[in-house]
Amino acid sequence: MPLVTTTEMFKKAYEGGYAVGAFNVNNMEIIQGITEACLETRSPVILQVSKGARAYANHNYLIKLVEAALLECPELPIALHLDHGPDFETCKACIDGGFTSVMIDGSSLPFEENIKLSKQVVDYAHAHGVVVEAELGTLEGIEDEVKVEAGEGSYTRPEEVEEFVARTNCDSLAIAIGTSHGAYKFKPGTNPQLRFDVLDEIVKKLPGFPIVLHGSSSVPQDFVAIINQYGGNMPGAIGVPEEQLRQAARSAVCKINIDSDIRIAMTATIRKYLAEHPDHFDPRQYLKPARQAVKDMVSHKIINVLGSNDKL
Ligand code: G3H
Ligand code: 13P
Ligand code: ZN
Repeated sequence: MPLVTTTEMFKKAYEGGYAVGAFNVNNMEIIQGITEACLETRSPVILQVSKGARAYANHNYLIKLVEAALLECPELPIALHLDHGPDFETCKACIDGGFTSVMIDGSSLPFEENIKLSKQVVDYAHAHGVVVEAELGTLEGIEDEVKVEAGEGSYTRPEEVEEFVARTNCDSLAIAIGTSHGAYKFKPGTNPQLRFDVLDEIVKKLPGFPIVLHGSSSVPQDFVAIINQYGGNMPGAIGVPEEQLRQAARSAVCKINIDSDIRIAMTATIRKYLAEHPDHFDPRQYLKPARQAVKDMVSHKIINVLGSNDKL
């Protein structure tokens, strides 16, 4: 089937008490690992491309790789989404260039400016059959070049969400309830806890409306240990406990963004492989197990975190 928007996916996810995984893609092996996992577990999927991914791999290469996945997985609903669209021009380029969904990230702007920019993108996207995710509230961590320091992140204010959604007409809303980007989400020794009270308040204000969680990697400690064992150095890398994400997926959260866990799984696998095979130099030799690690990670997330398996 051709690329789909997230409209039908989110409706089913909301009603079914699960979330659709949104995984960042940057190269062929990542796209193959993700889509093979989705095919096997019979899960819809959102493939998302950041500004950094477009700069790294080139828009046309990414589009063609995703088109190849569509050919290989004809029964799989795949949405192609711009992650953290920084401005109208980037969103327009992706809408014009074949994406079915875009995020406009005006979360660092004052409320009125965020509304104005988000609405501008929504108007253009909807006129072209594309859906829009907007964001209210800021996450700590690194988003492309923007680094939000610990303590500066602010939770989404439930009292603002109704007006924001009504005035922008966005199709889904990314919120801040304690998740953050990257591999260092919580201080070692602290108790990672998402603000489900804030989520509940938001859902009360926006019944039936799809909510998105960014920064939802769990930073699996077994992979971090492998990275550290084989020459890496990631002390104090901590993510969001998977049970909390499972809880979120059962609620109005219809899209959960996972990127760092895929990166960590690939890096751990490649580090270990090269350490154990010092004479190997063919990239296919280490990218093959790395691709398998992506697939295993995504299958695990689908079955144990998102609950989106067997939903085709
Ligand atoms: O939230 C950001 C995603 O993890 C994408 O990261 O900007 O390094 O491509 P990136
Ligand atoms: P993680 O860094 O937690 O994987 O978050 C990814 C993300 O939110 C992409 O937009
Ligand atoms: Zn994000």
